Amino acid sequence: MDSRITLVEGDITRQRVDAIVNAAKESLLGGGGVDGAIHRAAGPELLAECRTLGGCPTGEARITKGYNLPAKWVIHTVGPVWRQGGANEDALLTDCYRSAFALAARHGIRSIALPSISTGAYRFPIERAARIAFSEAEKHLAGNDQFKSVVFVLFGAKAYEIHSSVHARLAGSARER
Ligand code: APR
Repeated sequence: MDSRITLVEGDITRQRVDAIVNAAKESLLGGGGVDGAIHRAAGPELLAECRTLGGCPTGEARITKGYNLPAKWVIHTVGPVWRQGGANEDALLTDCYRSAFALAARHGIRSIALPSISTGAYRFPIERAARIAFSEAEKHLAGNDQFKSVVFVLFGAKAYEIHSSVHARLAGSARER
């Protein structure tokens, strides 16, 4: 795996990076989980800017300023709700990461922190989501020297452990190739 990809356990709102990614809902008008934490930390101006965006379809991404956050930007993406795998969930989650990285690239963002999109309220299986997240990050970084760091911020020890073991497995299989 690319050494610019790292994992930390913690709260994404505290990350000192150019941009943090939000796991939002289609209205972009705030919710619980990581979305609630980001809105609380950024302050009410974030919701005011989100209201001007007219929502965001699942798999796409939108960018706003970070207001009171240490991060300059927030990239809001909407993950799929897990429906037992028969509703194109893998492809939609792939699209989320792809859209977020593409938007970051267009804004000259060099460091980005991401949560585990869809694995909370939207119930996407976490290990399966981690494989998609790492493989999209890896694809995006290949041949791209704009990004200096991609940090996956995992909330809680269990999420961190699962992501670490998926990361180690992918790194191991990449070495064998
Ligand atoms: N920092 C990092 N990760 C966090 C934080 C935080 N402060 N708070 C929660 N998380 C983690 C959760 O533990 C989970 O692994 O973010 C992951 C995504 O969970 P959710 O926030 O529930 O997001 P998601 O599953 O994509 O569901 C989106 O939830 O809050 C609503 O408005 C949101 O309707 C949307 C839905």
